[in-house]
Parts: sequence; structure tokens; C-alpha cells
Amino acid sequence: MSTKPRILVFAGSAREGSLNKKLARIAATCAREAGAEATLVDLRDYPIPLYDGDLEEREGMPPFAVKLRELFLSHQGLLIASPENNGSVTSLLKNTIDWLSRDYQGRSGLEPYSGKVAAMIGASPGGFGAISSLANLRPILTKLTVLVIPEQVTLSKAHQAFKDDGTFVDERNLKAVTTVARRLVEMTAKVNP
Ligand SMILES: Cc1cc2nc3c(=O)[nH]c(=O)nc-3n(C[C@H](O)[C@H](O)[C@H](O)COP(=O)(O)O)c2cc1C
Repeated sequence: MSTKPRILVFAGSAREGSLNKKLARIAATCAREAGAEATLVDLRDYPIPLYDGDLEEREGMPPFAVKLRELFLSHQGLLIASPENNGSVTSLLKNTIDWLSRDYQGRSGLEPYSGKVAAMIGASPGGFGAISSLANLRPILTKLTVLVIPEQVTLSKAHQAFKDDGTFVDERNLKAVTTVARRLVEMTAKVNP
């Protein structure tokens, strides 16, 4: 079995043309180049209903949440591209995090999170590059006992940042994502020797 750190990469957007999905794709490549085994997933492929305690009591954890939970468990690091809605994380991202934090078949809801190392990146067409989203995501992950590295990427004017082939217009952005991905892989390897 590979001894490379396993990093799960996803964006908090379902949108086809999502800027954060583009950013996540580049970040996954950077994580691989930094020596990780990176799995890029699209939350659109994991449709989960809005958290509702009654639904949970009736039907348990939704099947796609269970699948995502398994993915979290089989990876040691998280690389999250977090879009910004009204100064915070998207409801999609929060809903996903919330469902996965529920106890499942007698296992603690902290299990998918404990011991994980995470890096946050975010893209927005605005001038601040989803910085408030990341500022809100950090304490959520910390609350779930995830170790969030200090380095992050906030990609502003992101609607102008990508070429048609999905690569960056400005090489400096690639450098910033590379730095964060390298640090995440390094820290994930340290925490999971
Ligand atoms: C309800 C809503 C609220 C938004 N609020 C913000 C915001 O507070 N700050 C910001 O920079 N962009 C905001 N945006 C713009 C999003 O950052 C933009 O739509 C972005 O492209 C979404 O990410 P995605 O491209 O990955 O889907 C908002 C968009 C929506 C739909």
C-alpha cells in the first residue's frame, strides 16, 4: 500500500462553472506534485438533503453522506476550496460538514475529523477572495478537532483568474497554491508518520 499522505480535495460549490472547483482542481495537482495521493471529489456527485433531525431519526445518515464519511475516513488530509456567501461558508459546505459530524452506527461524529490536517483555499469574483469564508471555516474545522494549517489562498477577481484550459492566468497564483499544498502534505505526513 502507498505510504503517501492521502488528501481529499473538494470545493464547497456544486455549480458546473464553479471558480472554487477550478481552484480545487489545480490544488489537487499541486498536492500530487508535493508527494500526496490526492482524491478530487465534486460535491454535486454527493447530493445530501438539508440536515433535519427528524429525517435523521427516521432514515439515519443519507447514503451520500455515508459515502463521503467513508472518503473522509480513508484520507488523512483535507484541502477545501471554500466559496463565500454573505461573508461566510456556503450552505452546501456547512450542511456537508454538519451531516458528517453526526454519530453513525455507534461511531463518534468526530471520527471523520479527528487527527486530520486541513488547508483552506477560496476564490471569489470580489476583491477579497473569499477571505471571510475562510475566516469562518477555520473555527468550524477547529471545533471538529481538525488541525488547520495557517497558510491559505484567497483568490480575488477569480472570474478573471483562469484560462480556458483551467490553468491560472497569473503564475503567482500557482506559486501560492503550490506553497499551501506543499505545507499541507508536509504537515499531514508529520501528523501521520
Ligand atoms: C447568496 C450569495 C452570497 C454571496 N456573497 C458573497 C460575499 O459575501 N462575498 C463574496 O466575495 N462573494 C459573494 N458571492 C459571490 C460568490 O463568491 C460567487 O458567486 C462565486 O463565484 C461562488 O463560488 P463558485 O464560483 O465556486 O460557485 C455571493 C454569492 C451568492 C449566490
